[in-house]
Amino acid sequence: MTARIIDGKALAKKLRESYKQRVSRLAENNVTPGLAVILVGENPASQVYVRNKIKACEECGVLSREHVLPADVSQTEVLALISRLNEDPTIHGILVQLPLPAHIDNRAVLEAISVHKDVDGFHLYNVGGLVVGNTVFPPCTPYGVQLLLETTGIDVAGKNACVIGASNIVGKPMALMLLQKEATVTICHIKTQELAQHTIIADILVVAAGKPNLIVPQMVKTGAVVIDVGINRLPDGRVVGDVDFEGVREKASWITPVPGGVGPMTVTMLIENTLRSAEMFQGKGEGINSFE
Ligand code: GUN
Repeated sequence: MTARIIDGKALAKKLRESYKQRVSRLAENNVTPGLAVILVGENPASQVYVRNKIKACEECGVLSREHVLPADVSQTEVLALISRLNEDPTIHGILVQLPLPAHIDNRAVLEAISVHKDVDGFHLYNVGGLVVGNTVFPPCTPYGVQLLLETTGIDVAGKNACVIGASNIVGKPMALMLLQKEATVTICHIKTQELAQHTIIADILVVAAGKPNLIVPQMVKTGAVVIDVGINRLPDGRVVGDVDFEGVREKASWITPVPGGVGPMTVTMLIENTLRSAEMFQGKGEGINSFE
């Protein structure tokens, strides 16, 4: 079996095209969607992510405002900036790029963002919403994966889903979303023993471990759907995921490539959440997403 490719780049492009209409509708009500992006310090990976997010805003007609703060900025100053942005009616989404420097308390910063502007979905309120299946802003990466899975036409209800990686940003929310869709979910993480015993029974395998070639064909059930969230730069400069793509594609039914799979969807879902926030702001959004 050779897997069909789940083309995240193409889906992201289609979605971004569709956003133009939503931006025009907002403009009719004199609302320009606005996203504030806060970057603390000079982490090169974070700089690239932020640049991509701002580029996507430009492409879709979302106004972006970048706040670059020095690595030694005090937590009080970051909180003061968030407080101002919470009150700013031209800003509908606030994103604090992670990781933050060690002297800043991540949770204190994320909890300071208004739940109405939490387009990353990291505030405890939105995390709690995921737990009870009533989220307004799903975290962008798992949200993107959810839409990629939908394109396969496969109903995840009753399927064995295995999520590798238990981060707050990807693994945990991903598992909750799959559970909400009635999959039987296993979460594997750094301490998991005999990883292959879990992966081999998975009909849906989502890998977010940050380790090239972690998943090889012997670990994959024939006909599984394999979603590779990993983005790893090899010493030779190539960017690869966590899955041995060439090997696993001969065993899976569907597979995402890296690059061109999950990555473009993550940024696109940030725009989606920002638009939804702006629509709620103007009183026309439903405030409830398709996970209901
Ligand atoms: N760092 C790595 N991924 C993300 C993300 O999705 N959002 C934010 N804010 N920071 C990140």
